[in-house]
Amino acid sequence: MASRLLQLVALWTTLVGTARACPELCTCVDTFGNLQFADCAYKDLLLVPVGLPPNTTTLSLSANKIKLLRAKSFVNVTQLTSLWLAHNEIVTIETNTLAPLVQLRNLDVSHNKIVNFPWGDLQNLTGLQLLKMNNNEMTHLPKDAFSTLKELRSLRINHNKLTSIVEDTFSGLTSMSHLQIFDNPFACSCCLEWVRDWLANTKISVPDQKLILCGAPEDLKGIMVSQIPKLDCKPPTAVLSSQPDLETTQIYEGVMVVLNCEAKGNPKPEVTWEVNAGSPKFEFTIPSAGEESDQPVNGRATRSRFHVFQNGTLIIPSMSKKEDGNYSCSAANELGRAESSVKLALTGTQKHTTNSVLETAGPKTATGQAITP
Ligand SMILES: *[C@@H]1O[C@H](CO)[C@@H](O)[C@H](O)[C@H]1NC(C)=O
Ligand SMILES: *[C@@H]1O[C@H](CO)[C@@H](O)[C@H](O)[C@H]1NC(C)=O
Ligand SMILES: *[C@@H]1O[C@H](CO)[C@@H](O)[C@H](O)[C@H]1NC(C)=O
Ligand SMILES: *[C@@H]1O[C@H](CO)[C@@H](O)[C@H](O)[C@H]1NC(C)=O
Ligand SMILES: *[C@@H]1O[C@H](CO)[C@@H](O)[C@H](O)[C@H]1NC(C)=O
Repeated sequence: MASRLLQLVALWTTLVGTARACPELCTCVDTFGNLQFADCAYKDLLLVPVGLPPNTTTLSLSANKIKLLRAKSFVNVTQLTSLWLAHNEIVTIETNTLAPLVQLRNLDVSHNKIVNFPWGDLQNLTGLQLLKMNNNEMTHLPKDAFSTLKELRSLRINHNKLTSIVEDTFSGLTSMSHLQIFDNPFACSCCLEWVRDWLANTKISVPDQKLILCGAPEDLKGIMVSQIPKLDCKPPTAVLSSQPDLETTQIYEGVMVVLNCEAKGNPKPEVTWEVNAGSPKFEFTIPSAGEESDQPVNGRATRSRFHVFQNGTLIIPSMSKKEDGNYSCSAANELGRAESSVKLALTGTQKHTTNSVLETAGPKTATGQAITP
């Protein structure tokens, strides 16, 4: 009985003793000499309170109404080892808000509305063991997001809006034993194939694999990522050829030049023409889903000089000094980008009719002749 009373007195002393250094609405408890717990949960707080005891090691701000974490919020509590921020309404965490918390071992920002997380801050939190970011609205996970977190044991990024995870995102995480990634709308393309193979082999516990599903493309929607079929993925290639052949044919004023860009790859690459012939520079991207058509797909502004077609062909209807320059076509898909370019220059000033040049270029130009205006 007496010892119980003593305990109560001790607790009372502690509470009163620290009350001066504790924000209103929070309860600061100094236990075992060194562990200071600041409990500010369930208080309808809109911001992180100022005046937290500098030696606070555990701070709970769970279940408040915080929308914004300001950059200086935690500058006075750099001893924090645990920070609980779940069930707020956080949309924005300013850059450098978390970076000073180099002692942090547990961070919970789950059940908020975070879209853009300050990923750079994580680089500083090298002692982090538990990271809960689940139930937010994050769409993007940078490649090196967790690269410095060698102590990380448990990571939850489930229930966000992630469409992809870059290969090797988890590969440096030697301490990791638990990973939750379910409930994200993964785009099951070439870039995600590694997840299927990784899931089959990893020693990390990855629960709820039945909920790790494809959200796109349409034909794979609802399929488990662990069961996506082998996709025949090929990086893009681009090969530029011309009619007439620039190696063997003189280019005279008035000549029509046809540049074909043969782009291959899987998924079908998107082709972009970049023309550096005087200013302004001309750049045109051909939509990869467009319908084949014999009408040019570039805008009116450039049509008098260049015709770009859905099949990747660029036609210069009539060469002049103005069209001297660098013509470059690139093919890009999610696996990379390839480029091929050619330098066009008038090699003679003599005027030739289009037809006579087409004759010298041989039968290859038959298609070009067909569209001669
Ligand atoms: C916390 O810091 C205050 C002053 O900053 C100090 O008086 C107190 O002893 C510290 N408490 C612990 C548990 O370290
Ligand atoms: C940090 O401490 C300084 C000095 O005591 C004080 O002026 C400032 O308001 C504190 N900031 C926060 C966010 O608590
Ligand atoms: C990151 O951590 C280092 C110490 O490891 C510290 O000096 C630096 O101030 C921290 N960065 C920020 C933005 O707080
Ligand atoms: C692409 O289409 C245009 C317009 O129909 C045509 O002139 C050109 O020859 C075609 N290119 C190839 C490589 O078939
Ligand atoms: C032509 O343009 C491409 C792309 O901008 C560039 O890589 C290439 O070096 C250029 N070639 C010449 C001959 O200027």
